[in-house]
Amino acid sequence: MDLGIAGKVALVTASSAGMGRNIAHALAAEGVDVVLFARSADKLDAAAREIAQRHGTRVLAVPGDMRSAADVEQLAQTLAREFGGLDILILNTGRAPNPIRATLDETDEARWHEAYQTQLWGAILVAKRMVPLMQGRGWGRIIAITSASVKQPMAHHSLSTVFRAGVTAYMKHLANEIGASGVTVNCVSPALIDTSHRGPPPAGRSEAETAARKKLTPLGRMGTQEEVTGVVTFLASRQAGFITGSSIQVEGGMIGSLC
Ligand SMILES: NC(=O)c1ccc[n+]([C@@H]2O[C@H](COP(=O)([O-])OP(=O)(O)OC[C@H]3O[C@@H](n4cnc5c(N)ncnc54)[C@H](OP(=O)(O)O)[C@@H]3O)[C@@H](O)[C@H]2O)c1
Repeated sequence: MDLGIAGKVALVTASSAGMGRNIAHALAAEGVDVVLFARSADKLDAAAREIAQRHGTRVLAVPGDMRSAADVEQLAQTLAREFGGLDILILNTGRAPNPIRATLDETDEARWHEAYQTQLWGAILVAKRMVPLMQGRGWGRIIAITSASVKQPMAHHSLSTVFRAGVTAYMKHLANEIGASGVTVNCVSPALIDTSHRGPPPAGRSEAETAARKKLTPLGRMGTQEEVTGVVTFLASRQAGFITGSSIQVEGGMIGSLC
């Protein structure tokens, strides 16, 4: 199926590793020019080289921190100068602070502050600066990566759930406000996706944690990165043009509700 997005320009935030980098690969495979944004310049450059070599589209690495208004401003100016605007915005973010804890054990104000800045404020900063680069082109796609915890909170995930719910609310407001300009705004809310790229604990999950997670879904397994990137790429497509203000869950049936 031709997704109708070849030649478009996408910004993927938090994209030097993991889901963000995989989403950038998937969009470039559809012929999209991609701008990568994350803090470590060396990792970002390596990802940009790999994506450009594999897919042959233009890939630009802009190092910066989503929580910094100055870095986001520099990103916007680079996009305007190099591409004249933006068609597809993928709002991926860094993770909530590690390790995860029960809600009442989250007594450290610094962790709440970090979670807010990383997951909610960074996404808002980028969205509010990039939307003007998208309006006036008559077509656009904004897709935020949130979490299935927004619909069914997972144990020990309040530092994520609280702020992902905020992102979901922000995106719904944005969908209502900018729909008339042809820009759709949606969320993809994953859970139980394979994160073996993060290695063993403390960064990644232990085998016991992974085994327990597999039992949370009727499919009895973790989801693959490709199963997330496929949904994101579809939402970015021409065919997804009548979907806006929605959250699409990618969680293997973990959520127990009817819809
Ligand atoms: N796997 C799942 O089942 C699941 C479920 C729900 C939600 N999620 C969410 O999906 C997102 C991606 O997960 P992942 O496993 O790919 O994460 P990851 O491997 O930790 O990668 C995170 C990326 O974000 C970048 N980053 C972190 N803080 C940043 C900042 N302040 N500004 C710019 N870039 C920043 C990192 O690069 P630098 O460090 O160089 O900046 C890196 O490229 C996370 O928010 C995660 O919580 C995952």
